[in-house]
Amino acid sequence: MSDHTRELLDLNQRLLESIATGDWNVYAMLCDPSLTCFEPEARGHLVEGMAFHKFYFELERSSAPRTTTMASPHVRMLGSAAAVVSYIRLTQTPDAGGAPVTTATNETRVWQRQGTTWKHVHFHRSPA
Ligand code: GLY
Repeated sequence: MSDHTRELLDLNQRLLESIATGDWNVYAMLCDPSLTCFEPEARGHLVEGMAFHKFYFELERSSAPRTTTMASPHVRMLGSAAAVVSYIRLTQTPDAGGAPVTTATNETRVWQRQGTTWKHVHFHRSPA
């Protein structure tokens, strides 16, 4: 596994953890402000910018534990300054009765090297 591949998988996992824990500062730090996405919440529309995502971070959160796993991750380098990270995102959490539930979504996330850091610039999520 190349250094870039390991670094991108670590950054992507950190991004997913920030979503799971509601850590807006980390999420915003990892994303380019012009982030674009297709995700079910956007109802088929391409969303640009961070405000759409911040809305969800500001909602009251459950304190239930949540574990996020990238299953079958694949990293495709597009030259040295861009990469596509694809995987199945598995989220484990207890339901209202405390029974464990796993949800799965297909995700593709695009990262761009900007100077010395990688920024998340686009993603697409759909139900697995
Ligand atoms: N909805 C935020 C994200 O999946 O990156």
